Amino acid sequence: KAAYRMVLVRHGESEWNKENRFTGWYDVQLSEKGIAEAKEGGRLLKEAGFTFDKAYTSVLRRAIKTCWLVLEEMDLMWIPVEKAWQLNERHYGALQGLDKNETVAKHGKDQVHIWRRSYDIPPPPLEKNNPHYPGNDVRYGQLLQRETPVTESLKTTLDRVVPFWEKVIKPDVTAGKGLLIAAHGNSLRALVKKLDNIPDSDITELNIPTGTPLVYELDSEFKPIKHKESIGPLSGRYLGNQEAIKARILGVKNQTK
Ligand code: 3PG
Repeated sequence: KAAYRMVLVRHGESEWNKENRFTGWYDVQLSEKGIAEAKEGGRLLKEAGFTFDKAYTSVLRRAIKTCWLVLEEMDLMWIPVEKAWQLNERHYGALQGLDKNETVAKHGKDQVHIWRRSYDIPPPPLEKNNPHYPGNDVRYGQLLQRETPVTESLKTTLDRVVPFWEKVIKPDVTAGKGLLIAAHGNSLRALVKKLDNIPDSDITELNIPTGTPLVYELDSEFKPIKHKESIGPLSGRYLGNQEAIKARILGVKNQTK
């Protein structure tokens, strides 16, 4: 009864994941470990017999590079890749660049958990005169000033991820294309919240590990089919060693312990 299948993947570990700094729209590179994770993700997909007709990614290099590495492992570098800012990480506002545990020491664990995982409370905004204001970056030149974020909650991230899913990705799925979506922790939390209809109160507990392919099967109504190896509220299943994946998920949560 699965009518459609697609694969989501969060980018491999970035230099700032490694340094435990808030990243958001800052365009940091993958770490050595992140490169290995992305390649391993591609290898697992190939081994499991997956193939893709098209890939979507963000306009941030850690996701783009992950997409490339996965496709390279699968000998699929030739397929079309569409890059969209709508798949970017959630903008982390004035927290971008800060050490996650120093932020806990300064503002307390509860406040930082609210900034990281509450559904609708955004981190403090970036000043518009900050050099990292996206309005100063050519790649966001097409965005109107009112669309250019200075901070985002998960809720406002959904405001851009969901229309992009509905208008751009979903028609490709309907057309029968096999899709890879290489994106980010919080833009993927937004997407799976929509796909799995996860309540606002439950989404706070969801953490997505780096570089781990997440396979979704959908019925003809786009309702995800729950896999027996799925974790938590997700219907999809992660490819790879399930115990190692659970440890990685816990690692994401514990970045601000
Ligand atoms: C970041 O932007 O810092 C990470 O990619 C996601 O961070 P989080 O897990 O703290 O939301």
